[in-house]
Amino acid sequence: MKPTCILLTLSTFALFTICVGQNVTCVHDAYPPKPSLKIPTYTVNLDLPGRQRWVEITGAKKVEIANLLAVLKKFLATFGEIAEKLINFIDEKGDKFDETLPQPFADEIQGIADATGLKLGEVVLYNIFYEVFTVCTSIIAEDPQGNLYHARNLDFGLLLGWDNKTDAWEVTEALRPLIVNVNYTRSGKVIFKAVHFAGYVGVLTAIKPGLFTLSMNERFGVDGGYIGVLEWIMGDHSATWMGFLTRQTMENALSYNEARNMLVNTKMLAPAYFILGGNKTGEACVITRNRLDTRDTWEIQDAGKWYILETNYDHWKAPLVIDDRRGPANKCMKEMTQQNVSFKGIFNVLSSKPVLNKLTTYTALMSVKSGDLETWLQYCPDPCFPW
Ligand SMILES: *[C@@H]1O[C@H](CO)[C@@H](O)[C@H](O)[C@H]1NC(C)=O
Ligand SMILES: *[C@@H]1O[C@H](CO)[C@@H](O)[C@H](O)[C@H]1NC(C)=O
Ligand SMILES: *[C@@H]1O[C@H](CO)[C@@H](O)[C@H](O)[C@H]1NC(C)=O
Ligand SMILES: *[C@@H]1O[C@H](CO)[C@@H](O)[C@H](O)[C@H]1NC(C)=O
Ligand SMILES: *[C@@H]1O[C@H](CO)[C@@H](O)[C@H](O)[C@H]1NC(C)=O
Repeated sequence: MKPTCILLTLSTFALFTICVGQNVTCVHDAYPPKPSLKIPTYTVNLDLPGRQRWVEITGAKKVEIANLLAVLKKFLATFGEIAEKLINFIDEKGDKFDETLPQPFADEIQGIADATGLKLGEVVLYNIFYEVFTVCTSIIAEDPQGNLYHARNLDFGLLLGWDNKTDAWEVTEALRPLIVNVNYTRSGKVIFKAVHFAGYVGVLTAIKPGLFTLSMNERFGVDGGYIGVLEWIMGDHSATWMGFLTRQTMENALSYNEARNMLVNTKMLAPAYFILGGNKTGEACVITRNRLDTRDTWEIQDAGKWYILETNYDHWKAPLVIDDRRGPANKCMKEMTQQNVSFKGIFNVLSSKPVLNKLTTYTALMSVKSGDLETWLQYCPDPCFPW
């Protein structure tokens, strides 16, 4: 296919040349990455009161959290008056706002404010932010023995400040130092593991060893999340925050089916894609959520048979031509073949450009059978796609 290139301007920050229809080169030698790209693991003890649970993690990362918040505010302000008003509102009325959040999350957020010395409103804002800006690729694949592997790239920071000195997204850069693995324990036992940005109490990527795995990808454009947030501010608290729903699912569901029912049936503040894997062959699906109901549930049998893959577009529609990570990821999966499904094989797919791009913060690899969660920081050396 002959590549077509277009020149794109993003506000006043940056000029990009985006080419579509290029040959994608799948990489084969990205795994294992350098040991320095591995991230630390912390413990969150669910037997502790909410206020104490995140003290260790957010105390250790308080400089990084304050830095991200500063970068965020700077760029949210460029979205104009409404964004600015929302920031000021939450900043000033943060205490009241936190009280409206369900437990244990309200207490956990208060505890993070205490541990970091940030204003409660700022930590609330920080937690809301993750509900609306995540762009990603998630894959669940079965090896020939029927063992399930679940992996994801977390891309974050689109349109949030291109730094023309470093050729990188400022928010994405500020996020990488915050990435941690968390062992959630009860009575001294690990009940699930998740990848977190320190200071955010919701779950975006997680594994319940032996039972199921979950990742969340943002769904844009349809009845967007900000409407839900505004409804919440106006006093309608009947819907659930996405990150709280995923965490409750990880804490409480005891099987793939139970997790699936929670994710399909709970009214939410914002639309989303949930990518859910079970513990045996055939148990993998992509749940396409509207705010209030489920638009579609796509089964692995109806997708690639031995794998299912989701980026940020409804699977029955074509992705935006200037943001096609789905086509390249499918190409690399097919080239890899089912024979090579493993941490190594999938990590290579997720490290092939533009599946890997300048927004990619980490790649997480999960094996439900072994219970392993490996998270690696990702950087995309030039030449690289901005998203
Ligand atoms: C970076 O952007 C600023 C303002 O947007 C501009 O003044 C400056 O010339 C740019 N620098 C480079 C190296 O393009
Ligand atoms: C893409 O790959 C095909 C087949 O391998 C080749 O014929 C073609 O020249 C390549 N195009 C570009 C732009 O590299
Ligand atoms: C997290 O849990 C795993 C077992 O699932 C264990 O091997 C690891 O040492 C734990 N890490 C920490 C920091 O507790
Ligand atoms: C798989 O999950 C089911 C619950 O859905 C559980 O009963 C079963 O023990 C799990 N299998 C393994 C091998 O852990
Ligand atoms: C996949 O595995 C086969 C052997 O099972 C090997 O020959 C081939 O090189 C592998 N391909 C990739 C892309 O890793």
